[in-house]
Amino acid sequence: MKTFLEQDIESFKLLSGKKFLITGGSGMLGSSFVNQLSKNIKNAKVYSFDKKNLDVSNINSVNKYLDIQPDYIIHCAALVNADECERNYENGKKIIVDGTQNIIEFAKKTNSKIFYPQSFLIYNYTNKIIDENTKPMPLNKYGKLKLEAENSILRSSLEYLSIRMGGFFGGFQKDNNFVGKITTHISNLIKNKKKSIEIGDRVWQPSYTEDLAYNSLLLLSKKKIGQYCMASHGSCSFFDLTKKIINILKIGNLFEVNSVSAEILAKKEIAVRPISAIMNNNKLIKEKLDRQRKWEVSLEEYLDSPYFRNLFK
Ligand SMILES: NC(=O)c1ccc[n+]([C@@H]2O[C@H](COP(=O)([O-])OP(=O)(O)OC[C@H]3O[C@@H](n4cnc5c(N)ncnc54)[C@H](OP(=O)(O)O)[C@@H]3O)[C@@H](O)[C@H]2O)c1
Repeated sequence: MKTFLEQDIESFKLLSGKKFLITGGSGMLGSSFVNQLSKNIKNAKVYSFDKKNLDVSNINSVNKYLDIQPDYIIHCAALVNADECERNYENGKKIIVDGTQNIIEFAKKTNSKIFYPQSFLIYNYTNKIIDENTKPMPLNKYGKLKLEAENSILRSSLEYLSIRMGGFFGGFQKDNNFVGKITTHISNLIKNKKKSIEIGDRVWQPSYTEDLAYNSLLLLSKKKIGQYCMASHGSCSFFDLTKKIINILKIGNLFEVNSVSAEILAKKEIAVRPISAIMNNNKLIKEKLDRQRKWEVSLEEYLDSPYFRNLFK
């Protein structure tokens, strides 16, 4: 009986030599795809573009790359800051919805399969476990735009795979999510001799971009289509997550974390977020394709790096 790892190596061979065009390639998830493709897919031809070189909201900028004729478009480009989408809806729409439409037109011409990373923020179910059958109910403009973009892919009749993913950590200096921001913030507080911080109790599934990219490539190698939910195993409040970070980085003697209610901190935000949005990976588990790990295990691996050690020198 082969282990999952041995089975995955066999599956990844099916992607050998394929062409991957990545939009938003310098972002957190995009750069993990670049990394996982180079680690796992032999002779993959990876065309990763940042916004400067491929602006998805500009069809001419997209069409410059028609000659590549990619097998897969890993469409990571988006305006991911939910508050910014509330402030500047038109810009969010231009990038997320119109940008995706441009990618659809491109994919039709090149006969490419679209991979779409969807956000858990299309959901709002505080007391319910979410899976692929759960009806999306976005609370904020970012979630609505992301859903609209996914629906356009769905209507296009192109072959696509959309994965609803838990909240990210990954990318070190690129990490503009909670783990990246809170570690930098705590490092600055410690330098300024502050000894404590207040963190809300909103519940999250901290998911490692490297694990998500690996698992997504596995699904592509298996020719999976449609929608899947994918998040790390387990869930935690931002308060628990911060305590875990402090514990892993061994700075508990320098710093204290106090819990406050999520509602208090939410007042500082513009976009409304669910107090909790927890997905399960049942479809992945059923198909024996769940390669997510416990969030604590992945987080420990992520934080065990020169980047984080240097922050607390
Ligand atoms: N972050 C999460 O927790 C999360 C969870 C589930 C799904 N997702 C989805 O996963 C994808 C990647 O998210 P991420 O967290 O990796 O975000 P990210 O680090 O901000 O990456 C997104 C990238 O898109 C680029 N971009 C913005 N506007 C663009 C445009 N007009 N044309 C081309 N590129 C453009 C950004 O460039 P600049 O930085 O230069 O603007 C950035 O490099 C997004 O579709 C997001 O909705 C994210």
